[in-house]
Amino acid sequence: MIGAQWGDEGKGKITDLLSRSADVVVRSQGGVNAGHTVVVAGQTFKLHLIPSGILYPNTECIIGSGTVIDPQVLIEEIEQLKALGVTVDNLYISQTAHITMPYHRKIDQASEESRGEYKIGTTGRGIGPTYADKSERTGIRVLDLMNPEHLHKQLGWTINYKNVILEKLYNLPALDSEKVIEDYLKYAEFLRPYVVDSSLKIYKAVQEKKNILFEGAQGTLLDLDHGTYPYVTSSNPIAGGACVGAGVGPTTIDRVIGVAKAYTTRVGEGPFPTELNDSIGKQLGDLGAEFGTTTGRRRRCGWFDAVIGRYAVRINGLDCLAITKLDVLDELEEIKVCVAYEIDGETCYHFPTNASQFADCKPVYKTLPGWQKPTTSCRSLTDLPKEALNYLKFMAELMEVPIAIVSVGPSRDQTIIVEDPIHGPKRALLDADGIRVGET
Ligand code: GDP
Ligand code: IMO
Ligand code: MG
Repeated sequence: MIGAQWGDEGKGKITDLLSRSADVVVRSQGGVNAGHTVVVAGQTFKLHLIPSGILYPNTECIIGSGTVIDPQVLIEEIEQLKALGVTVDNLYISQTAHITMPYHRKIDQASEESRGEYKIGTTGRGIGPTYADKSERTGIRVLDLMNPEHLHKQLGWTINYKNVILEKLYNLPALDSEKVIEDYLKYAEFLRPYVVDSSLKIYKAVQEKKNILFEGAQGTLLDLDHGTYPYVTSSNPIAGGACVGAGVGPTTIDRVIGVAKAYTTRVGEGPFPTELNDSIGKQLGDLGAEFGTTTGRRRRCGWFDAVIGRYAVRINGLDCLAITKLDVLDELEEIKVCVAYEIDGETCYHFPTNASQFADCKPVYKTLPGWQKPTTSCRSLTDLPKEALNYLKFMAELMEVPIAIVSVGPSRDQTIIVEDPIHGPKRALLDADGIRVGET
């Protein structure tokens, strides 16, 4: 299950929903930049690193190898869940995941400041620098954290090196390496019972024919390789990234579910063709409570963009969609959908990977009538106002994939299951008129 837009699509809610029939839920990329919200019986849970399946005590939750772990934040998250009465005995942490260190956070924040108008608008959680060290092969992994002697040696060298960057490049105070090592050794003892060979654990679950859900963080357009570079995150949130990050082969994955909002949001910098800098944009932000779960920043809001939707279908091989936050559109008189872009006077139906074309493109809109009735109590497609149903049909036709789930509110029960998202039909085959004629 992956985000089909720029993150915050409602993946937490959909993961929680799908976890009902999952034996194992795996986070395979990202770190504490993610903020996944789950609302159950009026109680709100905000998860950053722990898979959103954790609310089910019998579902095994794995923080996979491709993630980056800030142990301090993870420990806080574990403590908060325990305080709310949630058991975390079903949590497992990959021994090969990389560790976010204090210098990563400092360098992330300082580098953003020094970029000025070229800043990315990161979450400031040290994600980019942690993945950069992983690629540079100077990273600290969970395994290193579990070996005090080794950690001393490795961190002694690394902190001296990072201190030069902090002091000389950013004019910041140096870190006290002994203090950092002492703190991280404490974190290691707290986390030790959770550490496993995650790829092996997942492999055994595959052999036992268990249902495994890979919970994406961020979204397709924040993908390091296929997103709106450089305004992206430093991991691969697309479906293919789940294989790399979890350590499973592509043949393991039966089905790919994309989560998209009924409109679009983006938090951070970077181009956003359908952005609404007007009262409707503000209305969507207010009604949708569009504030970042991790940083509290106001999210930018705009119309649904089907060019991006089709790109997400292509890049992830989506079988079906979960459309969230339909209720946020309830009051609108009319609703626009971007069906194509105008680039240099030409109509373009495909996402332009050329960043400057994307920055300059003009959305081509189709306007649909709104329904101006509440949908939050709808529990089946037949409960929906006909304009809302038409809006969903239009989206599915544009993206050429069926909609399996429609979400009409943050709670678990505010959901319409259109077709079984796990065992339902594979990707639809449509004829030239957009009529479903079979499946691939
Ligand atoms: P994630 O990062 O993809 O898990 O999404 P976030 O949790 O960051 O943001 C989604 C927000 O929308 C959260 O506050 C959810 O509780 C909320 N939400 C999810 N689905 C719906 C929905 O259908 N309607 C409304 N109104 N809110 C929703
Ligand atoms: P979830 O999992 C939305 C954005 C940041 C910034 C860019 C790079 O909740 O959907 P980073 O800190 O990763 O280096 O920031 O990516 N970003 C997200 N936006 N949802 C997220 O996660 C995000 N994680 C990172 O705002 O633009
Ligand atoms: Mg989020």
